[in-house]
Amino acid sequence: MTHRSGKQEPMSERLRRITPEQARIGMYVHAFEGSWLSHPFWRRSFLIADAADLQRIREHDIPALVIDESRGAPLERPTLPGRVAAVEQERRATSGSHRAPADPEVARARAILQSSKRVLTELFGEVRLGRVVTCADVAGIVDEVSASVARNPHALIGISRLRTKDEYTYVHSVAVCALMVNLARVIDLAEPEVRQAGFAGLLHDIGKMAVPEPILNKPGRLNDEELVTVREHPERGYQILCPGEDVPDMVLDVARHHHERMDGSGYPFGLSGDQLSRHARMAAICDVYDALTSTRAYKDGWTPCEAATAMYAWDGHFDRTLLFKFFRSMGVFPVGMLVRLRSNRLGVMLDNGRRASRPKVKAFFSIMDRAPITPEIVTLTDSLAGDGVVSEEDPLRWGFEDWEAMRDRLVKTSVRVIPTVRAAA
Ligand SMILES: [Fe+2]
Repeated sequence: MTHRSGKQEPMSERLRRITPEQARIGMYVHAFEGSWLSHPFWRRSFLIADAADLQRIREHDIPALVIDESRGAPLERPTLPGRVAAVEQERRATSGSHRAPADPEVARARAILQSSKRVLTELFGEVRLGRVVTCADVAGIVDEVSASVARNPHALIGISRLRTKDEYTYVHSVAVCALMVNLARVIDLAEPEVRQAGFAGLLHDIGKMAVPEPILNKPGRLNDEELVTVREHPERGYQILCPGEDVPDMVLDVARHHHERMDGSGYPFGLSGDQLSRHARMAAICDVYDALTSTRAYKDGWTPCEAATAMYAWDGHFDRTLLFKFFRSMGVFPVGMLVRLRSNRLGVMLDNGRRASRPKVKAFFSIMDRAPITPEIVTLTDSLAGDGVVSEEDPLRWGFEDWEAMRDRLVKTSVRVIPTVRAAA
C-alpha cells in the first residue's frame, strides 16, 4: 500500500490555519507556513492592520498562514444562510423554479460544476482510449473547487446533489473532490495536503473508465460477472494513475483503497484498521455520503440526515472519529446520536425533515447538575452565539444503561418547540 503518513501536530483551539484569500483586516497572524524567505514580513506574528498588510499577504507565494483567534478577528465561517441558499437552490432546481439564488456562491458553484463537467467529460473519454492522466490536467478544477469550498462549503456540495445518470460519474467526482477538501481542512491538514485530497477526490473513480459503459450505466442489478468487473475499478484506477509523473501517493492510495472498510469487509483487498491510511478512510466517508445523497430526476436521494443516520449505523465501516468530524463539518448528524452541547447539556439528535436544513437536537440533561431537565428542542446554528454540538458522547459514561429505549422515547416524544436558541452557557 502506498501512502504517506501525513501526521502533524494538533493545533490549539485558538490557532487556525487559513489560506491567504481567507485573511481579513483585524486578524492576528501567528505564523506563516513555508520558509520565511517566501513572505515579505520580517515578523512572524502581527496584527493585519490595514489593506496594505492584506495585499502583501495575498500577493506573495504563501501557501497558508496560522491566525490566533484569541488575539484578533476569527475566521468568518460560512453561515447558515449560505447553507440554506444552497439547499433552497437545489429545491428550486428540482421544482423548476428559476428564482435567483440568495448566496452568490451558489451561482459561482454552478458555473464551476458546468465547466468541470466539460473538462472531465473530455478527459475521461480520452482515458478510455489509453491517455495518461496527470494532476496538471485537472489542477484548474481542484483549485476552483477548493476556493469555492473555502468561501462556502455548502454551495457546491448542495447543488451537485442533483444529477442525471449520464453525468453521474463526473458530478460525483467533483462532489467528492469538494467533500475531501472540506474534510481535509476540518481536520487541519496543511494546505498542500488539502489540495492533494482534492485531487484524490476528483480522480478516485477514474478506474471506472476501464469498465465497459454498458455495465457502468446498466439501470438494473448487476449479475455476478458484471459485479466482479465493476469491483476491479479501484485497482484499474491505480494502474491508470501510476504512469502520471505528478500524481502524489495520496491520490494513488485513495483510488486503490476507497472501497476498503475499517472492519475488513470492503474490496479489493479486504484491508482493515491500521492498514488503511487516513486519506483512504476520508475518501470512504465522502464517497458513500455523496452516493447516498445524490438525487436523480426519477428518484429522490436520501436526505443528508438519513445518509448520516445510515452511515452511523453501519458499524465497522468507517473511522468513527473522522465520521463525527465529517458530520459536524456538514452540519448534519445521525438521528438518535447522543451529543454534548456548548450549553453544557446533553441532547439527542432529531430528524430535521426533508426540507429543513438546520439540525435539531432535544436537550434533556444538565451536565453541571448531572440531572435530567425539561426537554427542549433546539435548532442549531453555525453562530457562536447559539448552541452547537461539541462532541459525541458514550451513553454508558452517563449511566444511561438502557440507552436505546431512552433514545427512542426522546426522539419520538413531542415536546414544545422553542424557536429561539439559548445562548451558550
Ligand atoms: Fe469507487
